[in-house]
Amino acid sequence: MGFYDSVYKMGLLLCDRDGGLKPMDAEQLRECAHEMVDFIADYYKNIESFPVLSQVQPGYLRELLPDSAPACPESLQDVLDDVQNKILPGVTHWQSPEYFAYFPSNSSVAGFLGEMLSAGINMVGFSWITSPAATELEMIVLDWLAKALNLPDEFLSQGKGGGVIQGTASEAVLVVLLAARDKVLRRVGKDAIGKLVAYSSDQTHSALLKACKIAGIHSENCRVLKTDASSEYALSPESLSEAISQDIASGLIPFFLCATVRKLGKCWYYIINSCGSSASTGKISNSNGLWLHVDAAYAGSACICPEFRHYIDGVEEANSFNMNAHKWFLTNFDCSALWVKDRSALIQSLSTNPEFLQNKVSFSRQHGCGFQRLASPLRTQVQAYIRNHIELARKFEEFVKLDPRFEVAARRNFSLVCFRLLPTDQNNLESANRLNHELLDAVNSTGKLFISHTVLSNKYVLRFAVGAPLTEERHVVAAWTTLQEKASELLRNSQDSSAVV
Ligand SMILES: Cc1ncc(COP(=O)(O)O)c(C=O)c1O
Repeated sequence: MGFYDSVYKMGLLLCDRDGGLKPMDAEQLRECAHEMVDFIADYYKNIESFPVLSQVQPGYLRELLPDSAPACPESLQDVLDDVQNKILPGVTHWQSPEYFAYFPSNSSVAGFLGEMLSAGINMVGFSWITSPAATELEMIVLDWLAKALNLPDEFLSQGKGGGVIQGTASEAVLVVLLAARDKVLRRVGKDAIGKLVAYSSDQTHSALLKACKIAGIHSENCRVLKTDASSEYALSPESLSEAISQDIASGLIPFFLCATVRKLGKCWYYIINSCGSSASTGKISNSNGLWLHVDAAYAGSACICPEFRHYIDGVEEANSFNMNAHKWFLTNFDCSALWVKDRSALIQSLSTNPEFLQNKVSFSRQHGCGFQRLASPLRTQVQAYIRNHIELARKFEEFVKLDPRFEVAARRNFSLVCFRLLPTDQNNLESANRLNHELLDAVNSTGKLFISHTVLSNKYVLRFAVGAPLTEERHVVAAWTTLQEKASELLRNSQDSSAVV
């Protein structure tokens, strides 16, 4: 909304020169765009001077902006002053080198310029004829990326499969869930929708449950199978097989499995390999019509490095595969790459083919988006970039291991370290959780770094994900120093208060 207001002002400014409405005046664009690029370049130059996590309070912006949109045009400089003084304080700086929360959301010069080009041309590619280059380049680039990831040929567009760009991994799982649902309903009849069952682990992203809601899959038919530390939070093939058998015995229809290649590694790998025999006899993926979707939203980028490719060994068993280029692949948000082996399933489910979309080359495609943005970063040294982040995360993990007050809470995979501060009374889970929650708040409120948390086996665990494009070793060292300082303060305070008691 804040940005909207500012952008609205900009709209007035750009429309009003010479008193006439000429929205895309090339010279005016040149002049203003230079000013804007300068502003953005300065933002990156000074990015370390901002608190990584915005420190404003809810509702702060209403105090700063007028009640209604300005009636008179303002200069671009006025607008940029507003952005500097009113908007940036309310921004959490995902591109800051001290950003270690959730998963990264990369930008890059190539990604940024691609985004600019895309905005400049501003085409809408919902059908081949609406911009042939959009459809064709999207298919070509996704084939390149599939080859770079060494995906099976069935995912390439020359055969029955192919890739399509979605906005997010959440959209990708929704799209394939709909395709899987309709595919099975074509076989068993649409009235059976209440019998369809989807499977995932408790480590699967909540996007799946949302997708199930949208797709009309009853929440009681969503099996969220428990995982634990003994299998490194991988979905157990036994519990999956057991759940499937029970559901079949109850007259239900298993139809979808979402397997995650995620923060904790081989979540799905175990399923494929341990169930390899049943998968190959068709028990899991074929005769039951179970659609296997592999969600590698974060980890997929790392699989472009040959040494990490084994994390998706077995992907040939999957019906669909997804990775977020906007996470760790130097591509601006939002750009999520989805591949399917059978694109006709997607098309049958999602095509409407109204008359206005009929043309001499009515490509049978689900609509994709955002082609240029992915094209540019593909040509950069992504492998070295990813390896560097993983090495920085390994260093951070070493720091944690060397400090006996902390523990690494789960095996590190890729560039995510899960760790926690150990309380004096290690048997008291509640106080351990409270302590780590306090540590999280304490470090984040310094503005010097931003980390997030998760819960593993009831333990409140801190997450340190390296992946911001500008992060260097010095930032990791500084973050660890802040964590140690705040931990010392908290432990001292907790000792003082127990002494008082
Ligand atoms: C494994 C996994 N799946 C899905 C998502 C959701 O991604 P998006 O925001 O692109 O929908 C995430 C986000 O972190 C994720 O890690």
